Amino acid sequence: MEESMFRRSGGKIDLPSVSPTLAHIIRITNSPDASADQVAEVVMLDQSLATKVLRIANSAFYARAVKAETITEAVVTLGFSSIRNLAASASVIDTLFPKQMFPGFDWQEMWNHSVTCAVGTEVIYSRMSRNYGAEAAFVAGLLHDVGKLIIARALPHRFRQIIMDCAEYERPMATEEHAALSTNHAKIGGELAKNWQFPDILVDGILYHHNPEDSSKHESLARAVGAANMLAKRMSKSYLVGISQDISLEEIAEYCGLSVEEMDHITAATRRRLGQCGDILSWGDAMPKAKRAA
Ligand SMILES: [Fe+2]
Ligand SMILES: [Fe+2]
Repeated sequence: MEESMFRRSGGKIDLPSVSPTLAHIIRITNSPDASADQVAEVVMLDQSLATKVLRIANSAFYARAVKAETITEAVVTLGFSSIRNLAASASVIDTLFPKQMFPGFDWQEMWNHSVTCAVGTEVIYSRMSRNYGAEAAFVAGLLHDVGKLIIARALPHRFRQIIMDCAEYERPMATEEHAALSTNHAKIGGELAKNWQFPDILVDGILYHHNPEDSSKHESLARAVGAANMLAKRMSKSYLVGISQDISLEEIAEYCGLSVEEMDHITAATRRRLGQCGDILSWGDAMPKAKRAA
């Protein structure tokens, strides 16, 4: 039944379409004549989305002395393009996180992984590029594995098989996805980001998080996402139940061209900042845990 929602055409997975509210937000934030009030009004049409936008904004910018209390404040202090990125993330969380349980796959841990990767990407990217406070980095990390959500929703039977094959052959998900679907979650996520008119930096951060060298314009962000993905695996439990994920700090340092000492600081900073992301981490409580394998 679920598979009919996302017909497979020409061997490709049909992507979920952008929600009407998000489409409206994208339109209005792209318009040079729009005012902050008008943008805020559109975001507030969807209360659940508006609340999430605020929470993500305040998690990404925890270091600001003054947090945004209202959407209008967030629009004024962060600007239109940030609001667009935040609304896109909130919309992904609201509409795409699967409600379905899969044996051996834990959506709560997947959410922890995503938030850890978001924080890690921002910390690593600011070290790599001296580009501080780039909320695009946070959002790219948060959404880097969105392709997995799409596969799980569109093709649940295949997704179940992919998880089992990962456990059996001890190979990464992208490898098993490629064997089963001739594509992988990074490519599917990148395609979604393009379809939903995300900015290029987010498209590349998602699309190339496993092969940053292929990004012509945003290699350093894609590399930061890739490194934060490794760091997140090191710092938290695997969402693939029972699969160990030993990654050394040396390996991550080499991947992003930083020293092991810097990686030590990055790990500590990421852990500290995660402690301030309690409200967005708690969204995972509503997500299905892993079903015990029969
Ligand atoms: Fe990935
Ligand atoms: Fe990941």
